[in-house]
Amino acid sequence: MMKRNSIFILLLWLLDFYGVSQNQNTVLPIIPKPQSCEITQGQFTLSPTTKIVVTSSSHQNEIDWLNEYLDKYYHFKLKTTAAIPKNDSYLEFVSIEGESNEDYELTIAKNQIHISAKEKSAGSFYAIQTLIQLLPLEKTTTLVIPCLKINDSPRFKWRGMHLDVSRHFFSISSIKKYIDLLALYKMNTFHWHLTDDQGWRIEIKKYPKLTDIGAYRKGTMVGPYSDQKFDSKPYGGFYTQEEIKDIVAYASKRYITIVPEIEMPGHSVAAVAAYPWLSCIGKQIDVEKGWGVFEDVFCTKDSTFQFLENVLDEVMNLFPGKYIHIGGDECPKTRWKTCKTCQARIKTENLKNEHELQSYFITRIEKHVNSKGKQIIGWDEILEGGLAPNAAVMSWRGTEGGIEAAKQKHQVVMTPGSHCYFDHYQSAPNGEPLAIGGYTPLEKVYAFEPIPTELNTEEQNYILGAQANIWTEYILNEKHVEYMAMPRMAALAEVLWTPKDKKNETDFLNRLQTHFLLLDKLEINYAKALYKVEQKITPSSKPNTVELELIANASLGSIRYTSDGSMPNPKSEKYQSSINLDKDMTISSALFKDNQLKGKISSRYYEINKATNKPITLKNEPSKSYNYGGSFTLVNGVVAKLPRDNNEWLGWSGKDIEVIVNLEKVQEISSLQIGFLNEELNWIYLPKSVEFLVSIDGINYTSIKKLLPEDFQFERFAKLSFQAKTVKYVKIIAQNFGKIPSGKTGAGEDSWLFSDEIQIK
Ligand code: ACM
Ligand code: ZN
Repeated sequence: MMKRNSIFILLLWLLDFYGVSQNQNTVLPIIPKPQSCEITQGQFTLSPTTKIVVTSSSHQNEIDWLNEYLDKYYHFKLKTTAAIPKNDSYLEFVSIEGESNEDYELTIAKNQIHISAKEKSAGSFYAIQTLIQLLPLEKTTTLVIPCLKINDSPRFKWRGMHLDVSRHFFSISSIKKYIDLLALYKMNTFHWHLTDDQGWRIEIKKYPKLTDIGAYRKGTMVGPYSDQKFDSKPYGGFYTQEEIKDIVAYASKRYITIVPEIEMPGHSVAAVAAYPWLSCIGKQIDVEKGWGVFEDVFCTKDSTFQFLENVLDEVMNLFPGKYIHIGGDECPKTRWKTCKTCQARIKTENLKNEHELQSYFITRIEKHVNSKGKQIIGWDEILEGGLAPNAAVMSWRGTEGGIEAAKQKHQVVMTPGSHCYFDHYQSAPNGEPLAIGGYTPLEKVYAFEPIPTELNTEEQNYILGAQANIWTEYILNEKHVEYMAMPRMAALAEVLWTPKDKKNETDFLNRLQTHFLLLDKLEINYAKALYKVEQKITPSSKPNTVELELIANASLGSIRYTSDGSMPNPKSEKYQSSINLDKDMTISSALFKDNQLKGKISSRYYEINKATNKPITLKNEPSKSYNYGGSFTLVNGVVAKLPRDNNEWLGWSGKDIEVIVNLEKVQEISSLQIGFLNEELNWIYLPKSVEFLVSIDGINYTSIKKLLPEDFQFERFAKLSFQAKTVKYVKIIAQNFGKIPSGKTGAGEDSWLFSDEIQIK
């Protein structure tokens, strides 16, 4: 035993001697990746005898943080001392003069750790976060850390995460856990969406009904929006001002600023339910049970402004940060158009229209907020009708609003739906919990660049940073919030902290996988969508055959698959190159590493028939937004499923579908089928009629039959079986439903026609 130990020590010494310390090839699991990190010789051992050298009281917060962490996960704490210990290893905080509050230097040598940052700044706290990420994950009392020198500083000032607590309510302890998660990744802004149509969540002393009435609804929408189903369980909750003070202090210890959002003039049903006189018509309404955009918004009468100013005064007293978010998005102008007071306001203020009235609204609120020494920030609709003079803009409908605001010399926070909406799906919808829609996988978040190329160097300075939003219509509890946030937030943290030229996706994924173990330890429920295996279909050169490609990140494992309906295991066939599918079958695939299943198994059923991979022509092109995979989508062997995955459908707005399938040789057929989508709330209607025609020469067509929606199978498949006919071409004409009827969502607009998969047998 003794002998083996000596050999081992000798070996370590030799490795050290030759400068090939085991750490040199190690990927340090630090997220976000520091600006610079140099691994040096040797290791530091943190143990219960390690001391913290304290020369002033200014680092108590960081010391407490580290000790609480060590105590919770390793069951020991470090003692403090005023002088540098002679025999023990130690950690010392050094105060330096610096420009930024967020910079730090962390030097780990064999017996000493030095953390240098500005006095009482976030920098020392961030150094502790880095140190924590370097600790081994196993529970032991001797924690070995590689020696290194890190110089670190963030790329952006605004590194934010938002949380909607109106659609679903989250307890104080959930909010604290969320804030801790932000802190771990050096995020510094928590945008707290406190009010919306479905619930007012902040106590306002002057207006108690806001929470007595506005914080509760009589039920909640359940399932997908298109179902319009509701339960009748009372639902609600709010935060008292005392609780808010507690949260603000909690966040402040983690160097996180909370930006409270009080929505106006739209998304204000909960407030109007509490005080109906706030709206134009004064009608008593209920707090909303369902999701959407609603017409009862704040009126522009003086008393409403007085109310909002009083509310904001209480809010500004609670939140010490510079910014107050006043919403500003999605405000229908319906009520204003017929309201005497609002129309008189337009006249007396010399406004052109209701858009300018919205601008008047925001500008008037801005004046009040500015008078208290604070700034407003609002969603990009506040650009419409003219931006209030000092307002900052949160660009969510793409980056265009942000670009325009920066050009007008206004501060901007980027949060485009395409990359920063974490309520979107992170892998194919059929393997994920129900979400609002969209597709924002981890890789897309990591690739996000907050500075648009449209801005010149001076304009770029107005981009404060970015944030991700977590809207909670379909997110019911803390675990689900974590699942949507992680690991996408880690990717965004790196986008916002790490210098652009130091970012590298493979390297990030490598570090992230170590973080998964840390997150397990912290009991954070993260998604494993990065291990997804995508099944991608392309046309094959062979007739009635499609080519299936299985796509995954090769650095994360190898793909194994089955085609007999069984579940793949580590011994299943290894995927090498694309597979030809020429008959009906189920392909199940998954990623494996070290004989372990990573992520989930994805299965898909392929239906191969006479139409599969045949040339097709479309008279009208589908809309650009709903044309993934082009016309081949209609004959690719995959029948689109519900809920809708946009990659499986083609969509036309206001147009008929007229499609010809060329079977390439004359043959007998006896059945025809095509599928449609019925989602009236999303403006998608079944066709008025579907006509099937056949031809031998491609010039003269004979109609077989016209079907009406009431003939459809499962209410969405137009299917026809008939005595065998000899044909070469099949034409299908699906007539668009036309304008959306009055009384329905989107009344008067063109309806959409969505279709997928033509089957000919
Ligand atoms: C928003 O997503 N309505 C800002
Ligand atoms: Zn009005």
